[in-house]
Amino acid sequence: MTENKKSATLNVHGKTYDLPIFSPTAGPDVIDIRKLYSDAGVFTYDPGFTSTASCDSTITYIDGDKGELLHRGYPIDQLASQSHFLEMCYLLLYGELPKAGDLEKFESTITRHTMLHEQMQYFYRGFRRDAHPMAIMVGVVGAMSAFYHDSTDIHDPHQREVASHRLIAKMPTIAAWAYKYHIGQPFIYPRNDLDYASNFLRMCFAVPAEEYEVNPILSRAMDRIFMLQADHEQNASTSTVRLASSSGANPFACIAAGIACLWGPAHGGANQACLEMLEEIGSVDRIPEFIDRAKDKNDPFRLMGFGHRVYKNFDPRATVMKQSADEVLDLLGIESNPKLQVAKALEKQALEDPYFAEKKLFPNVDFYSGIVMEAMGFPTSMFTPIFALSRTVGWISQWKEMIADPQNKIGRPRQLYLGETLRDYVDIEKR
Ligand code: SDX
Repeated sequence: MTENKKSATLNVHGKTYDLPIFSPTAGPDVIDIRKLYSDAGVFTYDPGFTSTASCDSTITYIDGDKGELLHRGYPIDQLASQSHFLEMCYLLLYGELPKAGDLEKFESTITRHTMLHEQMQYFYRGFRRDAHPMAIMVGVVGAMSAFYHDSTDIHDPHQREVASHRLIAKMPTIAAWAYKYHIGQPFIYPRNDLDYASNFLRMCFAVPAEEYEVNPILSRAMDRIFMLQADHEQNASTSTVRLASSSGANPFACIAAGIACLWGPAHGGANQACLEMLEEIGSVDRIPEFIDRAKDKNDPFRLMGFGHRVYKNFDPRATVMKQSADEVLDLLGIESNPKLQVAKALEKQALEDPYFAEKKLFPNVDFYSGIVMEAMGFPTSMFTPIFALSRTVGWISQWKEMIADPQNKIGRPRQLYLGETLRDYVDIEKR
C-alpha cells in the first residue's frame, strides 16, 4: 500500500489529529487509526466492522457495487470457466497461475495427502448418527492437531506448507466420511487415480457392493462449486480464522474455528437455510406471502440466499452458480424441479420489488448452490460442509499471508462500555 500525501484530520475534544491515509491497488483508501487511542485516548466504534479494514491482503478483491470478484487479479467468471479447483488453490496459495510442471507437482502432492490417519475414523463413531455433518467436521478438523504434530509449528515455513496441503487434501475425505457416517454406510477411501472433485463424489456416493462411475459433467459442476466458494476477502469465517491465528494457535484449530463460524445461517449455513425456505414456500403462488414477510420489520424472516454485506449488485458467483444449476438439472433430466421454479420466480419477483431494489438486495452465492447440490444427490445437511471444504483453501491462504506478515500481532478489539461504574460489594443480608 502507498501512503497518500493527503491525511485525514480529526478533531476530538478540541484537539486536532492528522491520521495517515493509505491507498490500495484497488478499492477505497484506508485511514490508519492505529495510534488514535494512544494519541487521542478514544476508540473508533464499528460493530459488525461495516467500515473497518482489519488487515492488508493481496489475495482476493471484491467490488460490491460492480459485482466484481478477483482472485489474485483474475475474475471469478474466467476462473470458473477456464480453470479448475486445484489450479485455483495453487493461485490462492502462491499468488500466480502455475506453470505445467508446478501444477502437476502440486496436484500430485494434494492427491497423496487425501487419506486420513486410520485412527481418525474412530472419532466419527463417537457421534450420534443424526449428528449434523458440520458438528462432525468441527470436531474432526480440530482433532487433526492431535494427529499431525509435524505440521503444527506455525513458525516453520515448511510445516506451514505441509499443514496447508494436508487440510486442502483431507477436507473432501473428512466431509465425505461425515456424510457416510450420517447415512450409516461404510467409509469409502480416496483413490489416487481420480481428480479432486471426482474423488469427493465417489467417496460420497460409491458403495463397496458395486463399481461407481463418476459422471464427468457432475464432477465438473462439483469442481465449479468448489471454485465459486473458495475465498471471499475478510468474511466472517475468514476473519475468525485470522483472529484465532493471531494468538499463535495451530492451523487445524484455526480452521476448525472457521468451520464453526461458517455454520451460521447468516453465513455459510444460508445454502441449507435457502433450500429449506424454498421447500417451505412450496409453490410459486405463495411467493408474495414470503416476500411480504421478508419486508416486515416485525417478522424475523429473511429471504435466505439474498443480500450481502459487500455486494450491492449481483454476486458474480450467483450468476455462474445459476448457469450450473441449469446445466446439471438439464443433464439429469430434471426439467421441472419445483424448487428451481420457485427460486427463479422468487428472484424475479424480489428484484422487481422496490424494497429489495432500494436496499440493494440481490441473490448471493448461496441462493442457487443448494439447488445444484440437491440435484447432485446431496442432502441439505451436506451443503455447508461442502462450502467449508471449498473455503478451506481461502482460509489457509489468508492464514499463511497473515503468519508471514511481520506486522502480525494478536487481535484484541476494545469496546464501548455501558455497564455499571465502580461500586462496593453488598453482603446478602443488606441486599
Ligand atoms: C455468505 O461476507 C461474505 O463474503 C460472506 C459470503 C462468503 O463467501 O464468505 O459471501 C457467504 O455468507 C453469503 C450471505 C449468506 N447469507 C444469507 O443469504 C442470509 C440472508 N442474508 C442476510 O441475513 C443479510 O443480507 C446478510 C447477513 C448477508 C448481510 O447482512 P448485513 O450486511 O448486516 O445487512 P443488514 O442486515 O444490515 O441488512 C440491511 C437491510 C436491513 O433492513 P433495515 O434494517 O435497513 O430496514 O436489508 C435488510 C435488513 O433487514 N435485509 C434483508 C435481507 N438481507 C438484508 N431483508 C430481507 N431479506 C434479506 N435476505
